[in-house]
Amino acid sequence: MDLFEAIKGRRSIRKFKKDIVDDEVLKKVIEAGVWAPSAGNLQSWEVVVVKNPETKEKLAAAAYLREFLAEAPLILVLCANQHVCASTYNNRGSELYCIQDAACAGQNILLAAHALGLGACWVGAFDEDLVAHHLHLAPGLRPVALIPLGYPDENPLPPPRDDMEEFIHFEG
Ligand SMILES: Cc1cc2nc3c(=O)[nH]c(=O)nc-3n(C[C@H](O)[C@H](O)[C@H](O)COP(=O)(O)O)c2cc1C
Repeated sequence: MDLFEAIKGRRSIRKFKKDIVDDEVLKKVIEAGVWAPSAGNLQSWEVVVVKNPETKEKLAAAAYLREFLAEAPLILVLCANQHVCASTYNNRGSELYCIQDAACAGQNILLAAHALGLGACWVGAFDEDLVAHHLHLAPGLRPVALIPLGYPDENPLPPPRDDMEEFIHFEG
């Protein structure tokens, strides 16, 4: 798939078929994240793969009852590794760069999923403490996104984008 086609054609998918995602396909999706840029190439992010139905339900509850999370065959929980990034970049590392690293990886993951015929959605609205608790996250691992992943069972129209002229500025 052409890159620009993938960028424009990717949609947030919130309805999934029951079909499972093969582990080899999942690896390809995550590998796309691995090749994202990261501050100092520290790759200060980690991902937890959740397939267990009970854990998926707990994550859906932590995301204020977004049931589509539990209905996806799996959820990727993207985490920023604050400790790794702080070791080189101090506060800027723990407060900013590791979040940006996770976001860069996440976008690659969304695009790779789309290119492989999968659907996904970046879910940012959730109770971080609850997610950390359910997944037994080590201190310093901050969950930044829940990404349900599966084969799409909907084909949403693209939500409109603002005109580029409204947010592009030259020289200041
Ligand atoms: C930082 C961030 C947080 C988001 N949080 C949620 C969320 O909590 N729930 C949800 O259903 N979608 C969430 N989305 C998906 C957006 O609603 C979606 O990307 C946007 O409406 C544009 O649609 P598109 O992805 O199909 O282009 C989030 C996206 C981003 C980037």
